[in-house]
Amino acid sequence: MTDAHAAPRGVGVVVVAAGSGSRLGAGRPKAFVPLGGRPLLDWALEGVAAVAGLRSVAVVVPAELVDADGWAGVALPPGATVVAGGAERTESVAAGLAVLDPACDVVLVHDAARCLTPVSVFDRVVEAVRAGADGVVPGLAVVDTVKTVDTEGYVTGTPDRSGLRAVQTPQGFPRDVLLGAHASGMVATDDAALVERTGHRVRVVEGDPLAFKVTTPDDLARAERLVARA
Ligand code: CTP
Ligand code: MG
Repeated sequence: MTDAHAAPRGVGVVVVAAGSGSRLGAGRPKAFVPLGGRPLLDWALEGVAAVAGLRSVAVVVPAELVDADGWAGVALPPGATVVAGGAERTESVAAGLAVLDPACDVVLVHDAARCLTPVSVFDRVVEAVRAGADGVVPGLAVVDTVKTVDTEGYVTGTPDRSGLRAVQTPQGFPRDVLLGAHASGMVATDDAALVERTGHRVRVVEGDPLAFKVTTPDDLARAERLVARA
């Protein structure tokens, strides 16, 4: 029996914001790029602060920014801990997990770059973890036909689109399951992959188009249009 089945003790959120933002190319770490006059990270933390049952928040940023100025406009949730990230996203998540309040029974990992994620997505993920899942990811049906290819660019297959989902964050786990997956020392582009590889079943709940990741300048322009309209 995992912690998720015991009395709820609170939700911990690791917000990963330690990437460089090379594809955005804005000349500074992506989480500190302004969106509607506020850093992306501030938008992301506004969503996190509204999570029901929130107990602990770890904000993982580039090492050079942990003690630096340049935090103007970022409102940290009360009691949040700021910690330096690593070269890989997996390392950044592990750094956040290490400082999260160990009393949290549910842990969410969230990309700061998904800065406009509605709180309803967080709540759906927490609810599914509390209902007993070992891992929960928000996902959307894939609209394009997807091909697998070899190193020369030749198509090796066309998976049935109805069985594919594009997954987002926050991804949620009982704390012990996520710690165990990270202790394996494996690296992946998301946390669910580590949990899958350690033999657990991960459930998909409905994602939200607004949980898109700001990756390219086009994505930032889309985010600017959305916040201007709000
Ligand atoms: N991230 C992190 N530590 C890393 C790499 C990524 O905390 N070493 C975080 C990013 O800050 C982001 C999320 O993981 O919130 C998703 O990563 P991505 O969109 O790839 O962001 P970047 O790595 O910053 O962008 P790029 O790959 O274009 O450099
Ligand atoms: Mg990256």
